[in-house]
Amino acid sequence: MSTADLSARPGAALTGTIRVPGDKSISHRSLILGALANGVTTVEGLLEGDDVLATAAAMRAFGASVTRTGPGAWTIEGQGRFVEPGDIVDCGNAGTGVRLIMGAAAGFDLKATFTGDASLKKRPMGRVLTPLGLMGATWLSREGGRLPLTLSGGGLKGVRYVLPMASAQVKSAVLLAGLNASGETVVAEPEATRDHTERMLRAFGASVDVTDASEGRTIRLQGGQSLTGCHVAVPGDPSSAAFPLVAALITPSSTVTVEGVMLNPLRTGLFDTLIEMGADLTIANRRDAGGEEVGDITARYSPLKGVVVPPERAPAMIDEYPILAVAAAFASGSTVMRGIGEMRVKESDRIALMAAGLSACGVGVEEEPEGFTVVGTAGGNHPVRGETRVTTHGDHRIAMSHLVLGLAAQGSVTVDEPGMIATSFPGFVELMQGLGGEIG
Ligand code: S3P
Repeated sequence: MSTADLSARPGAALTGTIRVPGDKSISHRSLILGALANGVTTVEGLLEGDDVLATAAAMRAFGASVTRTGPGAWTIEGQGRFVEPGDIVDCGNAGTGVRLIMGAAAGFDLKATFTGDASLKKRPMGRVLTPLGLMGATWLSREGGRLPLTLSGGGLKGVRYVLPMASAQVKSAVLLAGLNASGETVVAEPEATRDHTERMLRAFGASVDVTDASEGRTIRLQGGQSLTGCHVAVPGDPSSAAFPLVAALITPSSTVTVEGVMLNPLRTGLFDTLIEMGADLTIANRRDAGGEEVGDITARYSPLKGVVVPPERAPAMIDEYPILAVAAAFASGSTVMRGIGEMRVKESDRIALMAAGLSACGVGVEEEPEGFTVVGTAGGNHPVRGETRVTTHGDHRIAMSHLVLGLAAQGSVTVDEPGMIATSFPGFVELMQGLGGEIG
């Protein structure tokens, strides 16, 4: 992992047609479900980022055979169960990886010790441990349910669990544990979150019942179901596509197309918000790709205006607020983002780091406990100055957001720990350079 700083300088327009790596959420799930299944699972377009590679290594530790057969092409031979790992399972930077794997592992009679990098060791695991405990799992952890922790699984009973926060990771952990619990497991989510686990469980042959009502979504699963290996085609990650698309919207004379981007409505809140801000964002060639809708998204440089983002949209764009805040910095008027306290427990406290980074770049930001407001600079007399070095706390999305800002600011922006970008978006720098972006 590179430790040298990386800088983005304002320069020419960005132009070109690109593809971004495979979706991170679907990539993690394809490996985990493949390892839980009987038989062979083949994956094409797997995101070969550090987070997902950590999950691949973890699945080997739990007994699956996991092989790379070509770029993005992987084969997983599951045994229909997890076995006890012979060593500590290190999930690196990946919250999705560790939380989903803990859920899956809890269903088996084994002990497993999990750890992660400095960021993951600070993140709350109690949100997953609490429902797993209700089902019968036990654990020994650091203070506050922090990693490293040892989980003992097996003998689980199905549970009815109402999610106390909008979290697809918690929902998924409970459903994966429920697969190997006795009786029925029911997860009720007051706000719908990304549904990749439910969709993929069905693709692997499980029966999952989903009902939508005004008070939320309920997912039901009978325990004791076995999964059968299948083929997974991973679509382009909308959370990664967000960076080149916003870069084009804020850099004069730019036009960028990202092909094959997943358009699952529980993931596209950023695109809806950008269109409300006046972005010239068009989606063409909508098609089905392996059970998910994908399309080619074109962004052209656009004058943007500030908006109030509806808090109920947060689950559909929770990872995109950092790059939205960058777009908001170049808009006219303020952009108000509320109901996003979850941002404080991501790879870093993303509200605090975006507020600090944007302020250092000359942008007005008002931070609140559960949100922030960015005062757009367009039409005002305070440009987005840039000319700063940002401490990213090892957070890939904080790094990429500030580099995108640097492409359109008055002066360059430098980030530390750029090697962390490879957790979700390997090849980001080369891709942006190919569009004409001066990053290096
Ligand atoms: C993810 C869910 C989200 C998101 C994360 C990936 C997933 O987290 O932030 O990057 O794949 O389920 P929460 O479910 O904790 O909000």
